[in-house]
Amino acid sequence: MTISKHIINRFFLIILTLFTLSWFNTLFAQDANDGKQLFISKCQSCHSGDMKTDMTGPPLFGIEGQWEDKGKLHEWIRNNQKLIASGYPKAVEVSKLKPTAMQTFPDLTDPQIDAILKYIDEKGSGKLDAAKGTPAAGGEKSGEDTSQHPLLYGVITLILALAALILIFVNKNLKKISDDTEGKKTPDGIPFLQNKMYLATTAILLFIIGGYFTTKAMINMNRQKNYEPRQPIFYSHKVHAGINQINCLYCHGNAWESKTAAIPSVNVCMNCHKTIQKYNGPELKDKQGNPIDGSAEIAKLYQYAGFDPQNPDAWDPNKAKPIDWVKIHNLPDHVYFNHSQHVRVGNVQCQTCHGEITQMDEVHQFAELSMGWCVNCHRQTKVNFNVDSTSGNQFYSIYEKFHNDIKSGKMDSVTVKDIGGLECQKCHY
Ligand code: HEC
Ligand code: HEC
Ligand code: HEC
Ligand code: HEC
Ligand code: HEC
Ligand code: HEC
Repeated sequence: MTISKHIINRFFLIILTLFTLSWFNTLFAQDANDGKQLFISKCQSCHSGDMKTDMTGPPLFGIEGQWEDKGKLHEWIRNNQKLIASGYPKAVEVSKLKPTAMQTFPDLTDPQIDAILKYIDEKGSGKLDAAKGTPAAGGEKSGEDTSQHPLLYGVITLILALAALILIFVNKNLKKISDDTEGKKTPDGIPFLQNKMYLATTAILLFIIGGYFTTKAMINMNRQKNYEPRQPIFYSHKVHAGINQINCLYCHGNAWESKTAAIPSVNVCMNCHKTIQKYNGPELKDKQGNPIDGSAEIAKLYQYAGFDPQNPDAWDPNKAKPIDWVKIHNLPDHVYFNHSQHVRVGNVQCQTCHGEITQMDEVHQFAELSMGWCVNCHRQTKVNFNVDSTSGNQFYSIYEKFHNDIKSGKMDSVTVKDIGGLECQKCHY
């Protein structure tokens, strides 16, 4: 092999490696200004993902047209309470739309809000779905990760690599032709399949790419986002927590006190269902659209409870058998997750992690429950670290350094990450 060929080959290898690396980088890196990500993580718990359905918050499609002053719209999204308090008429009007108030997002920057607004517009007008070439994905699915961009980069990398290969062959042939015309005798090139350099490059590339996808598939193996098993009783959260507004903690009170949120026992159901024996609410349908007879489902509850509706006073709670509910959320055994730490100390809403439970008949898994999901939230979420008032979490007084840094203006807030939320042993046994 001549020296020039050596150089070209090395060069080719380096370029290819660089491209591959940059591709992998884009696979892992998350664009902080990605409107879709931001919308899903911050807004979708209250505003519907298709931008058109009315949920806890109003549908957002066309929102920019409805607000004359774009600056005020930004202010609303960042801190609606402040804007309402300032008496701005549009804000006061909007605040009367819904019984609940919107959360504030003081950390959102202007470019981030612009990105969110752009996503709202593109998603609402169907541009995104058209671009994807798939039928509208629907609100539920939009939590899916964005593998589109990485794929695009992958394709570009491959095309560039192919172009590089072709150029090398062209170069080689041209050189051969010019050598031939000059009458120089060149040794015949080694055929591709016997060229160790190419073979090694191909093998390494295949190894990296194959390894990446295998690992990714293995990691995803136990994940079950959107898992919605059939339960022994068609128990609707929409009917109980939504329409009848029963507080989550009435049944899942453990979430406030302990590690697990726990499922209520039959006796808790019977507190109400000793008297509520028939279902007269809105028509119920299961996932496939089959009608469900609510009263028959309540009768199933009585089977478990050993309760005779004709003779309520004879009921003996000790005869009740547990209902074999299918567990939906399952973290692997090596992960430690504590509800009270999040719900009570961290003040995180159930809906942030479990989605709009009050709109679901049967519960499905809303979040991915991946390590990236936990860690990303810990990177972004601020803890209640108010130094000067007594409202802050007193426990954090042990973090002297942060308190001093905040006082001296070196930092303005403390995230879960800062107090150790990314340390492996905090989440892993
Ligand atoms: C905790 C639930 C919740 C979250 C999270 C939330 N919103 Fe809202 N949003 C509301 C409610 C409720 C209203 C209606 C205003 C009211 O009644 O106070 C609203 C109103 C709005 C409005 C004004 C609507 C109009 O008709 O003018 C905009 C714009 C808006 N939200 C954008 C966002 C964006 C962007 C995010 C994410 C960064 C977000 N919201 C996150 C609940 C929420
Ligand atoms: C009247 C009692 C009751 C109320 C109120 C209630 N739930 Fe439940 N919840 C249940 C029962 C029973 C199950 C088990 C059956 C099922 O999965 O649907 C359950 C299951 C769940 C699950 C899935 C657990 C798993 O298997 O992984 C989540 C998440 C959940 N509830 C969240 C909530 C939230 C959030 C609220 C408030 C908006 C709420 N629940 C209100 C009774 C209740
Ligand atoms: C705080 C009171 C309360 C508790 C506790 C309660 N329910 Fe209900 N339940 C209701 C009300 C109210 C309705 C709706 C009745 C109507 O609209 O006619 C209902 C309706 C139902 C229905 C028919 C609609 C549907 O969801 O399919 C079933 C089945 C049911 N409940 C099962 C349960 C089970 C199982 C539990 C225990 C995990 C439970 N309920 C706990 C108040 C309660
Ligand atoms: C920070 C995210 C987060 C918040 C906030 C949160 N949960 Fe959970 N929840 C989870 C995870 C993760 C699991 C799976 C736990 C496991 O498998 O060990 C889970 C599991 C559950 C379960 C199944 C039973 C159990 O304890 O494993 C119920 C029921 C539940 N959550 C209800 C609630 C309710 C009600 C609230 C609000 C009061 C709430 N969750 C708030 C993340 C959260
Ligand atoms: C929606 C945001 C959010 C998600 C998702 C989330 N966390 Fe957290 N987590 C918090 C907040 C906020 C705190 C801080 C509570 C406080 O003030 O101490 C916290 C604290 C913790 C801590 C204590 C950290 C420390 O240094 O004291 C552990 C452990 C933890 N989370 C585990 C998990 C695991 C495991 C998951 C994923 C299954 C998860 N979290 C998902 C918001 C989140
Ligand atoms: C905020 C909580 C949290 C922290 C901090 C954390 N992990 Fe994890 N880790 C998880 C969760 C949740 C899973 C389960 C993901 C799944 O089932 O897909 C996991 C899974 C894993 C796995 C199995 C592979 C996989 O992705 O399923 C490995 C290995 C791992 N973690 C290593 C680490 C190491 C090393 C650190 C410290 C640098 C760390 N983790 C810190 C929450 C955390």
